[in-house]
Amino acid sequence: MSSIKYKNNTLFIENTSVKTLALKYRSPFYLYSNSNISKNFKSFYNNFKKINPLICFSVKANSNIKILRILKKLGSGADVVSGGELLKALKSGIKPNKIVFSGVGKTEEEIRLAIKKNILLINVESENEAILINKISNQMRKSTSIGIRLNPDINAPTHKKISTGKAEDKFGLSKNSLITFCRDIKRLKNLNLEAISVHIGSQILSENPFKKTLKVLEEIILKTKINFKYVDLGGGFGITYKKNDKKIRLKDYSNLVEKFKKKYNCKIIFEPGRAIVGNSAILVTKIQYLKKGANKVFAILNAGMNDFMRPALYDATHNILPLIKSNKRVKGTLEFVGPICESTCRFIKYKNYQKINQSDYVAIMDVGAYGASLSSNYNTKPLIAELLVTKKKVKVIRQQQDLLKLINH
Ligand SMILES: Cc1ncc(COP(=O)(O)O)c(C=O)c1O
Repeated sequence: MSSIKYKNNTLFIENTSVKTLALKYRSPFYLYSNSNISKNFKSFYNNFKKINPLICFSVKANSNIKILRILKKLGSGADVVSGGELLKALKSGIKPNKIVFSGVGKTEEEIRLAIKKNILLINVESENEAILINKISNQMRKSTSIGIRLNPDINAPTHKKISTGKAEDKFGLSKNSLITFCRDIKRLKNLNLEAISVHIGSQILSENPFKKTLKVLEEIILKTKINFKYVDLGGGFGITYKKNDKKIRLKDYSNLVEKFKKKYNCKIIFEPGRAIVGNSAILVTKIQYLKKGANKVFAILNAGMNDFMRPALYDATHNILPLIKSNKRVKGTLEFVGPICESTCRFIKYKNYQKINQSDYVAIMDVGAYGASLSSNYNTKPLIAELLVTKKKVKVIRQQQDLLKLINH
């Protein structure tokens, strides 16, 4: 049960009314519920309890250090995709032996850093990357543990811009290349192949593509005859943004993974991002202006696509809710848009929305994943603040960026 919900028509986050915070802090701002993060992490773990997996939270979904600290305390590791994310994960206290490093374009500097910090695995995405890691390891007189990422050529039903497991996608190695790679790896003397990894995409609401992926992994294990110490099954577990979104049945999938683990005697790693933090935050924003268009009314918010990119980037649907609910409806179409000078700076359209006024505050829902972490300074707008609520306590976990600093740097 989410800790962000209406109580007597007033939107609450944990024990705090959102309106009170909207009046106290400068909008727009991200507002997180600590309890939602913990509940999601525990519920994810409980689905796979029998497998006792290592959960490496995907830092790209949310890289706020305070959020990472909450997850570290819950036992999470980290899946990182850059040197910056690696340093943030370490700064949050996550131990190197719980960190995996994915990504198709790791630089020499990033590889050196990962080796120096002795992280659990560098998940390699190409033969040439492996050659470079081997060379750097040799120079550093180290033996580096790597995983090899498979591209299983599986079409997961999701938005085309967040699919990563089809043959046409840039991620991982094809089955054949991976099998050849495993055969030839012995000549890379400073590498220690310990894992096979896979990640087929994000916001996947059906368990079937995950099941199919397990089959492909079995095929590879049988063909290569390698006893991988770790099998990293990635992330991608979807959440329900829309009323009619189907809930993914993780229990079902978990039974299959349990059998798989027993059969191949490996440790399972997961890299969930969205499933842990997606519904943990809202974006509180003011209606700067109401404006009559030719055939609809625009509610122009003070938050834009620079603050929250998903609708513009992925055509994502995020509901926008009033902080105080009322029964008064207004006929016609209302579109919530942002201030950025791009036609794609728009959020969502409604028919017969409740009556709202200029200067009212509203909440963009479910923005905890790929929200703040994807935000930018486009149109030279400062990054907005992030606040964390724990029951009644409110903490600023990132200050709004200083405009003068932004323009002078
Ligand atoms: C390699 C890898 N692992 C994990 C994730 C996390 O995905 P999600 O937030 O959908 O769980 C991603 C995101 O795309 C990814 O690229």
